[in-house]
Amino acid sequence: EQIKKGNFEHFMQKEIHEQPDSLTMTMRGRLIRGEQKIKGVLLGGLKDHLKTIRRSRRIIFIGCGTSYNAALAARPIVEELSGVPVTMEIASDLIDRQGPIYREDTAIFVSQSGETADTLQALEYAKSNGALCVGITNTVGSAIARGTHCGVHINAGCEIGVASTKAYTSQIAVIIMLALALGDDSLSTQQRRNAIIDDLYNLPNKVRDVLKLDKDMKELAALLMEEQSLLVFGRGYNYATALECALKVKEVSLMHSEGILAGEMKHGPLALVDETLPIIVIATRDASSSKQQSVIQQLKARKGRLIVMCTEGDAESMCPDRTCRLIEVPQVQDCLQPIINIVPLQLLAYHLTVLRGFNVDQPRNLAKSVTTQ
Ligand code: G6P
Repeated sequence: EQIKKGNFEHFMQKEIHEQPDSLTMTMRGRLIRGEQKIKGVLLGGLKDHLKTIRRSRRIIFIGCGTSYNAALAARPIVEELSGVPVTMEIASDLIDRQGPIYREDTAIFVSQSGETADTLQALEYAKSNGALCVGITNTVGSAIARGTHCGVHINAGCEIGVASTKAYTSQIAVIIMLALALGDDSLSTQQRRNAIIDDLYNLPNKVRDVLKLDKDMKELAALLMEEQSLLVFGRGYNYATALECALKVKEVSLMHSEGILAGEMKHGPLALVDETLPIIVIATRDASSSKQQSVIQQLKARKGRLIVMCTEGDAESMCPDRTCRLIEVPQVQDCLQPIINIVPLQLLAYHLTVLRGFNVDQPRNLAKSVTTQ
């Protein structure tokens, strides 16, 4: 086991630091650039089904835990590039409600293990209703890979830590590539798609850069280790980042944490804000960052204890009075930003866990793969 961990103390730590490589593996052979002006993506397992997916009346993403969050992070770009309405389902909730699924729907099942019982049951349900079922898994030959009509492997390599890290970023990358493939019959989005493909090429290097925040995140963890609770505000592309950060913090460091859609702040969460409760606000540059700027001002007006994640160079505009602690990250295309933004937050959850003295790779009461209901 020690050998497999290499120079790292824990699998979770190793898997966080492996992300430049796991993302490279995920994209290998799938991006087309070369000399051509026309860039594209190649997803072998889906090529015969893209037309059907484009024509479907709805795309439904179905998953649990981190896999659900990954689909949520990529939802906006799938909507933008495919033009197909996209809805989200937590597998157990879909089953509980027996929610309507039709033959004209495409149901996309996202699961690292490919064995999660709720996701599998939702797959059986969607199949019996006649939907086209697509699998996005990390495990060749898994029940979900076998049971779906077609799919994509994320090729992130074996993930051992119970808290999913590298699978999350690779799942997002795959769904973004799916969005690119679905949109590649449209001339009007060619420029946008080319820009995303260029940034996908550079993504492993950007992740390498952001991993250098490790020491800062350890310092931040030392500041926060005695806290009872941590709130995380995000919106747009980074609503999922807020949910995923809170999930990581609670599952491994056993600190209460809640991811909040910033647009809902005034409908309840604002009541919690005081000078003691730490709050992370994700405010990297994109179409909704000016709204996040005003969220920061409103939280400050309530004396909120703020940690702001912003784009490198934006510190001054996001926090002019310098009262916030900052996490500055490199900028990439808006839809890829969740992949960059989650990395320091994974590191924060990791260091919090070590400092608080809990089991990093096997958090109490949790399992890597939940195969019973
Ligand atoms: C468990 C794991 C999580 C994972 C979830 C879904 O709760 O601890 O890390 O996100 O199951 O698992 P899946 O294998 O379907 O992605």
